[in-house]
Amino acid sequence: MGNSFGTLFRISSWGESHGGGIGVVVDGCPPRMDLSEEDIQPCLDRRRPGQSKLTTPRDEADQVEILSGTFAGKTLGTPIALLVRNKDARPQAYEEMKTKFRPSHADFTYQNKFGIRNHEGGGRSSARETIARVAAGAIAQKFLSVDQVKITTYVDRIHDIECPELEEVPTLESIEASPTRCPHPETAAKIESRILEVKKAGDSVGGTIICRVNGLPVGWGAPVFDRLEADLAKAMMSLPATKGFEIGSGFKGTYLKGSEHNDLFEEREGKVRTKSNRSGGVQGGISNGEELYFRIAFKPTATVLQVQKTVNEEGENTELMGRGRHDPCVLPRAVPIVEAMTALVLIDHKMRHHAQCFSFIDEG
Ligand SMILES: Cc1cc2nc3c(=O)[nH]c(=O)nc-3n(C[C@H](O)[C@H](O)[C@H](O)COP(=O)(O)O)c2cc1C
Repeated sequence: MGNSFGTLFRISSWGESHGGGIGVVVDGCPPRMDLSEEDIQPCLDRRRPGQSKLTTPRDEADQVEILSGTFAGKTLGTPIALLVRNKDARPQAYEEMKTKFRPSHADFTYQNKFGIRNHEGGGRSSARETIARVAAGAIAQKFLSVDQVKITTYVDRIHDIECPELEEVPTLESIEASPTRCPHPETAAKIESRILEVKKAGDSVGGTIICRVNGLPVGWGAPVFDRLEADLAKAMMSLPATKGFEIGSGFKGTYLKGSEHNDLFEEREGKVRTKSNRSGGVQGGISNGEELYFRIAFKPTATVLQVQKTVNEEGENTELMGRGRHDPCVLPRAVPIVEAMTALVLIDHKMRHHAQCFSFIDEG
C-alpha cells in the first residue's frame, strides 16, 4: 500500500536497501517513443552513492536494466519494468539497529506499524528506494523535453549558508560544476567546507533545494483536489527527509499586503504575462505559463556517527552509536530526485489535460 504514484502515467516502486535490488513498473507510457537504458542511466549516475566525498561511500554503479515494455528501442505502450540490482550491501553495520531505534529515522514507526522490519540499511525506508523514482522520472523527463519543458533543480541553502537569489536560470553545467550542486561558485565552496566539517565530526546538515520549470503551457493541473501545487507538494513530501514545501512567495509572501503581493497581468509580445511571479507559476491549481517555482526543505541526515540516547524494542532506555555508510548531507543527491518527481507530476498532468480537454487543446 502506498507504493504507486500518478494517475495516467503511473509508477509502482519496489525494493529494499539490502535486498536483491530496486525496481519500478511504469504504466501508461505512450507507445512508439524512443527509449533505451542510455536515456535513464545518466539520471541514475547523478543520484548514485559514492559520487563524491560529500556523499555516502556505498559503492553502487546502479546500472539499470529495461526488462519489459520496449521493443527495438521503442516503447510498446505496455508496462515498462526497470531493475537496478543492489551490489554493495553490508548488513553487519546495522546489527545494533536490529533491536534499537535510530532517533528521527523510520525504525520505530515501521516496527510498530508492521510488527516486522528489515533493519539492514533501513530496508524500505532507505533512500535507495528513490532509484525507482529517478529511473521512471528519466522517462518522464525525456518525453517532457519534447514539449520544451525544462526542469532546473539546485541546492539553494545548506545549514546557514545561502545562495544569493539567481535571476537567470542556472545551467546544468554550473550546477554540476560542484559536488554540492549549488550553481554559485563562492557559495558552493563554503557549503563544501561545511559538509566536510560536519562529516569529520560524525554529524550532518540539511537545507533547501529550489526547482524551476520553464516552458510550461497554460492549463496543466486538475482542481480541486489535484491542483498542480498539491500534487507537487505530495510528490516532494513523499521523499525521505523532507520537512517543507513552498511555492512562489511561500511563507515569506505572507508578510506582504494583497496590493503588494498580486502578480499584475500585462500583455507582452502578444501573450498574457504577469509582471511578477509570486504565484510561482500556478493560479487556481493550474499552470499560468510563468516559471513554476518551488522550494523544498530537507532535514539534517538522521543517522549521525555519534552516541545518542534512544530506546530498544522492549521500550527500555538505551544508547545507540550510529554506524554504516551515510550521507552527511542528503541535498546534493536529492537534486536529481526532486527533478524526477517534478517530471512525474508534470507528465501525468500533461496527459490528464490532454485527456480532458482534447476537443479544443492547442499546445503547438
Ligand atoms: C538522497 C537521500 C539520501 C539519504 N541518505 C541517508 C543516510 O545516509 N542516512 C540516513 O539516516 N538517512 C538518509 N536519508 C533520509 C532517510 O531515508 C529518512 O530520514 C528516513 O527514511 C526517515 O524518513 P523521514 O526523515 O522522512 O521521517 C536520505 C534521504 C535522501 C533523500
